[in-house]
Amino acid sequence: MRTLTGIQPSGALHLGNYFGAIKQMLDLQKSDELFLFIPNLHALTSLKDSAKLRENTIEAAITLLSLGVDPDKTIFWVQSDVKEVTELYWYLSPYTPMGLLERAHSYKDKIAKGISASHALFSYPVLMAADILLYSADRVPVGKDQIQHVEITRDIAVKFNNEHGDIFTLPEFKVDENVATVPGIDGAKMSKSYGNAIDIFLSEKELKSRIGKIVTDSTPVEEPKNPHTCNVYALAKLFLDEKGALDLAARYERGGEGHGHFKAYLKELVWDYFAPHRDRKAYFDEHRSDVYEILREGAYKAREIALPMMEKIRDAVGIYK
Ligand code: ADP
Ligand code: TRP
Repeated sequence: MRTLTGIQPSGALHLGNYFGAIKQMLDLQKSDELFLFIPNLHALTSLKDSAKLRENTIEAAITLLSLGVDPDKTIFWVQSDVKEVTELYWYLSPYTPMGLLERAHSYKDKIAKGISASHALFSYPVLMAADILLYSADRVPVGKDQIQHVEITRDIAVKFNNEHGDIFTLPEFKVDENVATVPGIDGAKMSKSYGNAIDIFLSEKELKSRIGKIVTDSTPVEEPKNPHTCNVYALAKLFLDEKGALDLAARYERGGEGHGHFKAYLKELVWDYFAPHRDRKAYFDEHRSDVYEILREGAYKAREIALPMMEKIRDAVGIYK
């Protein structure tokens, strides 16, 4: 099973990204042939600051490598290092009806959020289709907001295949229904755009202060508390096994402990959980040339698959040789 996905280089990752997406992706490394890339070309649709895009791209690579992406198991690269993907984007465009793109929710949502309506934003799903089809991915793990883009990819592939024969594999999307929404410090969905996130790689002091800001109810210390309505408990549970969660719930229900205790416990859980990853991050921060080398090798492996596919596609559409 060839599984492919992209993670946007959009700044620091938070606990919602980790438990909602990255952890499942790391699990897939054990069972699937995983292709993972950083879609920096897609990021151009919303980020105009060149220094920031360059920095975010390498930061995203460092974060993913630190969290456990294993370049010996997974083909891991930066989208723009395989330039054929932009060529394919054009070959797919004649097979992309305007209506298909006009119906894209993500495009409408982004405009509603104030991102300016450019051609790149409109044709974003065609570049995403090129990402998926170039590598003949069978399966694409995505968040719910990206399902439609995988469906658009299938529509484009069917139209192209109808004209030129069975060139493209039709991908399936994979959405993990078991993944709960991780709450932010205000109890709403954790998101970097809501300013309520707890980032994965904070200093100990920043982490303590961020967790200190989690909204809790005002039940007095000595009284029993309901863990199931508590944001601190919801976050702590992510780090605990079943017994650990039951034990913590019992502490809530017993009374006698204030939210300060539970927050201190949560801080320890987060801090300890990411300790090995923090060490790896410190290493990569110091040895950026290793990261560039890993990305170069990843791009090389990705191109080995992309180049023969591109030959087939050029041939199919009639590019002269
Ligand atoms: P953000 O909302 O911070 O911009 P993204 O939209 O970039 O996050 O999300 C990247 C991935 O992380 C997606 O697969 C998304 O489903 C997942 N994700 C983001 N926030 C959460 C959350 N609070 N709970 C669960 N998953 C999340
Ligand atoms: N659009 C995806 C997102 O915003 C990122 C992405 C780009 C992607 N190309 C992809 C995801 C190909 C899966 C497959 O999250």
